[in-house]
Amino acid sequence: MTNSNASPRLTSAERDRRVLDLYEQLLEIEQRLIPTGLHVLGRPSQPHERADMLRMIASFERPEASARALTSLVAEGLELPDYNSSFESASLEAREKVETIVTSAIEEFVNNGAAAAASLLHSKAKVSQDDSRPVFSLLESISEQLQVNTEMESFLAALRGDYIPSGPGADIVQNPAILPTGRNTHAINPYGVPSTVAFSRARVVADSLLERYVSEQGRYPNAIGLVLWGLDNIKTQGEGVAQALWLLGVRPVRDALNRVTEVTPIPLADLRRPRMDVVMTVSGIFRDLFSPTIQLLDKAVRTVAQLDEPLEMNYVRRNVLDQSCAAHCEVDDAAVRVFSNAPGNYGTNVNFMVMDSEWEREDSLGDLFVTRKCFAYGRDSKGLVIDGREARVAMDRALARVEATYQNIDTFEIGITDVDHYFEYLGGISRAVEKRAGARPSIYLSDSLSEAVKIRTLEETVRLETRAKTLNPKWYEGMLNHGFRGVAEIENHVSNTFGWSATADAVDDWIYTGVAETFLLDSRMLERLQALNPHSAHVLVGRLLEAHGRGYWEADPKLMTRLNEIAGELEDQLEGIR
Ligand code: BEZ
Ligand code: MG
Repeated sequence: MTNSNASPRLTSAERDRRVLDLYEQLLEIEQRLIPTGLHVLGRPSQPHERADMLRMIASFERPEASARALTSLVAEGLELPDYNSSFESASLEAREKVETIVTSAIEEFVNNGAAAAASLLHSKAKVSQDDSRPVFSLLESISEQLQVNTEMESFLAALRGDYIPSGPGADIVQNPAILPTGRNTHAINPYGVPSTVAFSRARVVADSLLERYVSEQGRYPNAIGLVLWGLDNIKTQGEGVAQALWLLGVRPVRDALNRVTEVTPIPLADLRRPRMDVVMTVSGIFRDLFSPTIQLLDKAVRTVAQLDEPLEMNYVRRNVLDQSCAAHCEVDDAAVRVFSNAPGNYGTNVNFMVMDSEWEREDSLGDLFVTRKCFAYGRDSKGLVIDGREARVAMDRALARVEATYQNIDTFEIGITDVDHYFEYLGGISRAVEKRAGARPSIYLSDSLSEAVKIRTLEETVRLETRAKTLNPKWYEGMLNHGFRGVAEIENHVSNTFGWSATADAVDDWIYTGVAETFLLDSRMLERLQALNPHSAHVLVGRLLEAHGRGYWEADPKLMTRLNEIAGELEDQLEGIR
């Protein structure tokens, strides 16, 4: 969909592949679970929201409840074994058939109960009731809990200083045991991280990341910049941590008390690729919650740097030796790879700088990232703890070798344009790399929660978010139902999208044009925004003017004239002139 100029010389096979590719992308947008409104404290989910959620939950294998994925059961019942093997037209048709039946079974379940849904599945897809029973009994309990809501009571109890029952913190699709909501979320034992499941999932994701880079560049990246967040690693029991370990080519080792305190190198013969050099920037929350994990990550880097292996198979060793020679620095300093804020500090502030338009050159956004994040954590070769020591030069040098940056996305609930934190971190590190390495890195995100692991470039992810949310009437009408706050959310998405231009040049022109056409040039829509929240409408048009002014959006001059007029009209309205 990025390149719509079809060459006339396509063979029919090539044309078919393009059509299939397009179809695959449409399906991806259609099937993406999006929030269709804001969460209202104390209000349980509505029947249609419940159906969407249950369908998603039922699309995953649930061995812990002895329940198979409904999609697999239907595919097996219809004898479509390779329905999920992607891209072939037969498999796409099969997938559509499976999805349609699963959707109607869930609808039947929500409207008429488990028995009716099971008999529908039996008649449409020959799924035996014995096979579907465990799924539906799981869905029954989840559905019941989705309708219980004690958030308001808990909130009031918290204000009174009363006890609030606790529950695990996770993504609802990933771990339905988080229900009912309104409990006091508890975190994790950092010594349990990464879990065995997290490590095995991480292998698949990290291998796909490397495969994608190699398919684009023909070789492995010299170093990879990783962003690790605390909440994500709580929710996934350390999938991000496990990805870092797997890229380095080490395995976590548990001690006699079942605590992960050591790592062991995976032999190169088993790894069958070089050990990657990883530069980790961890959030302040991660630093606070995962202190032993930070030590583990640092130990992993130092262990790998000391392995007696050919340099072309151990990028950590190669880069550490190279750096200690070239810069005449100690190996200890050259091996620093875990960076965070100074103790007691949080965030990069890149988001605030972008939102306040307080910058002239994009380089200053990357510099700010490094200023905030250049504090090293770990333990040196003499066993002395490094606990937030300023290490700006070490970070500059480590980032100068980075050729790919990456962040794991683990939730359906929050995407890269929902909040400003993704661009402050992944965008911030990418801008910092661009100046220090002299080239923009390849920027990737993963969707580790999907059934099929998917690595996307940042540009692809911005397009997908735009199509699935910002420009999707189902999403923005859902937001507009909330009135004032909904308009603020739309503006938020546009401003966060702009953040990806500022930090990473990752936004296509059509995206800004689409925003202008949908929200401002459509006079009915503009009137609605003006009536509900003229302030946010004014910020929104201002953001588009800024995108154009800073050279991120090549727009038709007539369109810009009209946007300037709209900005003026909104200003007058806010000042009470009209
Ligand atoms: C974290 O979980 O580490 C995190 C959450 C929000 C923003 C940044 C980091
Ligand atoms: Mg552009």
